[in-house]
Amino acid sequence: MQKDFERSQTRINLMRSFAGECQSRQRYYQAALIAQQQKLVGIERLFRFTAEQEERHAMVFWKLLNDPSGGNIEITAGFPADVSDDIQQLLDSSAGEEEKEYSIVYPDFARIAADEGYTDIVSKFRLVADIERSHNVRFRYYADLMRSGNLFRSDDTEQTWICLNCGHVHKGSEPPQECPVCRAAQGYFIRECEAAFTSSQIIQK
Ligand SMILES: [Fe+2]
Ligand SMILES: [Fe+2]
Repeated sequence: MQKDFERSQTRINLMRSFAGECQSRQRYYQAALIAQQQKLVGIERLFRFTAEQEERHAMVFWKLLNDPSGGNIEITAGFPADVSDDIQQLLDSSAGEEEKEYSIVYPDFARIAADEGYTDIVSKFRLVADIERSHNVRFRYYADLMRSGNLFRSDDTEQTWICLNCGHVHKGSEPPQECPVCRAAQGYFIRECEAAFTSSQIIQK
């Protein structure tokens, strides 16, 4: 049987989730601006891409609150406060934040929602946890590339890189210091396979 929503822990957890997602969105947006200032445009796009998804998660939880009474919901929660303009640290802390969400926070919220009889909300918490897991993998991937000095370096001498500014494609173990077409800095290059809409299935070589 479903617990009275007004008295449920799930209602509070939905508000905590909403608050957490809004903050993730803002932290990633700020990280994107820092990456942009450092001309690391691939990393900037990564943060923006993820920030937009966090914004949508916030909306999902907000709608589930579905509370026309207009009252306040008191929450107590800890949120990360790593203030840094070091991109390595921002990638690492973002990966850590995502790991906590998918492995602890949302599984706990799903279990509580199940105990309280909210089947639909259980599946939302689980589905969002799966997305946060993919965010963790993505942040970890770029954090590891950066730490190992491989953000702009590959062992594959035939690696394909794409300039995110003009679309110029370059093959080699490293992208050029400056794009020969638009003169964008090296930070505009990412591996082509990591760029949106460049799957070989849709682009004939
Ligand atoms: Fe999220
Ligand atoms: Fe996330």
